[in-house]
Parts: sequence; C-alpha cells; structure tokens
Amino acid sequence: MKIGFLASHGGSNMQAIIDACKAGSLQAEPVVVISNNGASRALERAAEEGIAGLHLSAKVVGDEEKLDDAILDALTSRGVDVVVLAGYMRKIGPRVLEHFKGRILNIHPALLPKFGGQGMFGMNVHRAVVEAGETESGATIHVVDAEYDTGPVLAQARVPLEPGDTAEDVAARVLKVEHQLFSETLQKIVDGEISLP
Ligand code: GRF
Repeated sequence: MKIGFLASHGGSNMQAIIDACKAGSLQAEPVVVISNNGASRALERAAEEGIAGLHLSAKVVGDEEKLDDAILDALTSRGVDVVVLAGYMRKIGPRVLEHFKGRILNIHPALLPKFGGQGMFGMNVHRAVVEAGETESGATIHVVDAEYDTGPVLAQARVPLEPGDTAEDVAARVLKVEHQLFSETLQKIVDGEISLP
C-alpha cells in the first residue's frame, strides 16, 4: 500500500506512520508528503526521511482548480493507493476527492460524531470536550467526503477524562492514542480486516 500524506503543521501522526512502516509493523510505503505550508515541520520530516515533499497551495500554483490538479498529479504519478490527511487544514478538491473516493482517510481528535465539523480543530476540540463535562474523549479515523468530519468512521480509540483535566491534558492524552490508532488502522486495511467503502 503506497501512502500519500497531506499535512499542514507538525506531522507527528505522519511521523508515527512512517516509523511504523520502517519498523515493519505497518506494511506500507510512504511515497509523498504534500503541504500547503512551506514552513511546516511535516515537510522537514519528509526531507529527513528521504520522502518526496511538495509545497502546494492555491497561492503557489495559481488557484484552487490548479491546486486540485497539482495534488492529483503528485499522488497519481507516484502510484498512491491511500491518501492520509495528517492535520491537513484545507478541504480536498473535487478531482482528488473523486479519484480517491473512499481512499482518503482523516484523523480527528475526538469521538465523532461528537465535537466535529467546521471550526472544530486543534485546541478548540479539546476545550469543547472539557467544557461539555465529558467523561471520555478519543480519536476517530474516518473516510473523507466533501464535508468536514462526516464520512464513515473506520476506527476509534477512547481515553478517560479525569476531574480537573485541562484541554491541554486531554490534547496530550488523545495525541498519544492517535499515533497508535492510525498505523494500526492502516495495517487492518492492508490485512483486509477493515474494508474501505
Ligand atoms: C491531530 O490532533 C489530528 O487529530 C488533527 O490534527 C492534529 C495533527 O497533529 N487532525 P500532527 O500534525 O499529526 O502532530
């Protein structure tokens, strides 16, 4: 399984997947990292790992339509099978979405369908979880469709919330399980235990 990543910032989830590939616990090959952010840690990580890294944004290539084409070309020319959104802060264009229908996966730092949708990203999610007085949170891997956080759920991992937890405490606890959940879920796809729609 060849993986193409889209990542905007740190790329720690991406790194965990790359590490699992190197360790052999995930039978997959990371082939390209695409970022809308030229200064992202995700692109630095790609360079460190010897993986092709591309800075592609509407600004860089001209407009949203050209960006959609450029991303599609970057993925298809490298034979990507599955696209992993690892903290990608943009919507996917219609051509990429159509070509990779059912093969674009996202990770969300909460138990969807709760705490998802527009504006629910980063610390906003964890603050909302704490303010709602939840007793647990977690991470969700789902298939990407044209909306935010609405596609079919493939896997979830749960973490308990302790009384007095801050949003930062929850964020750290959730990120830890995210790192495991993504590569485990991808391996289940390789093994046929989870089938993509
Ligand atoms: C993660 O919390 C993920 O759930 C969300 O964006 C964050 C990315 O973190 N979609 P990183 O870039 O993988 O460190």
